[in-house]
Amino acid sequence: MAAAAGGVGEAVETEDPGALQPGAAPFGNFPHYSRFHPPEQRLCLLPPELLRQLFPPEGAERRPILGLDVGCNTGDLSVALYKHFLPLHDGETCLGASRELRLLCCDIDPVLVERAEKECPFPDALTFITLDIMDQRNRKVPLSSFLSQFGRSVFDIVFCMSVTMWIHLNHGDHGLWEFLAHLSSLCQYLLVEPQPWKCYRAAARRLRKLGLHHFDHFRSLTIRGDMASQIVRILTQDHAMELVRCFGNTSWDRSLLLFRAKHTMETHPTPEPPTERQKGTD
Ligand SMILES: C[S@@+](CC[C@H](N)C(=O)[O-])C[C@H]1O[C@@H](n2cnc3c(N)ncnc32)[C@H](O)[C@@H]1O
Repeated sequence: MAAAAGGVGEAVETEDPGALQPGAAPFGNFPHYSRFHPPEQRLCLLPPELLRQLFPPEGAERRPILGLDVGCNTGDLSVALYKHFLPLHDGETCLGASRELRLLCCDIDPVLVERAEKECPFPDALTFITLDIMDQRNRKVPLSSFLSQFGRSVFDIVFCMSVTMWIHLNHGDHGLWEFLAHLSSLCQYLLVEPQPWKCYRAAARRLRKLGLHHFDHFRSLTIRGDMASQIVRILTQDHAMELVRCFGNTSWDRSLLLFRAKHTMETHPTPEPPTERQKGTD
């Protein structure tokens, strides 16, 4: 199968995916997604020094940069993001010697997550978990237990790449709104690659033909049209974020939008809970 050259690649997410099992991917959980929408197409728009610029090391600060990759699929983009932001320059990492990058990568599909874990070349830096990010009851513990290992309560950056349409189609307008609210509450910076509206129609049509009714929301969606603008509107007007940069469009006509939280809950690491010994001395 040819890699994503414009419409051919887009067909995977929208029309009949050919050799892939049609209908087997109601969440966009295509088993070979990165073959059709390769990470490089997105990464070439992102400056490798971006994280160093957003999170410059302050003094003797040694805390790692923490990222969350939502909807990581088989981890190809997660690994590529990690490598992209850590290019070696004269033996030094681009982030500077003092800052590591640690990524928590989650996906709703356990089979994809298992593959991601098996194939990950950086198991110390990337952690993969199966998680439905829309599951309000069960999402808090895995996210906060990752953060608390570092004494933190929010991520420095969340990556949400080619996921918004699947959330929107499966959970409706309110689901998309709540998803964006949740992500914005979790981080200082949020990088979003929204799928354009033209993908929605085709994805819904394909799944309807296959008798999958998960996508019944499609007809009732009122958030529609220019999805990049809609997402900018929701995040900036409703969820206290500001648009910092638009990194331009991929060959699939998808923009990469970087947002910053206007008020972050955390500018410093949360203090560690007192140890038993410290408690005794208080
Ligand atoms: C189209 S793929 C994008 C993969 C990757 N982010 C990329 O851009 O290459 C969308 C991914 O989002 C995942 N996904 C959809 N709904 C999800 C949810 N509620 N929670 C977690 N992951 C979800 C799917 O399983 C799928 O792997």
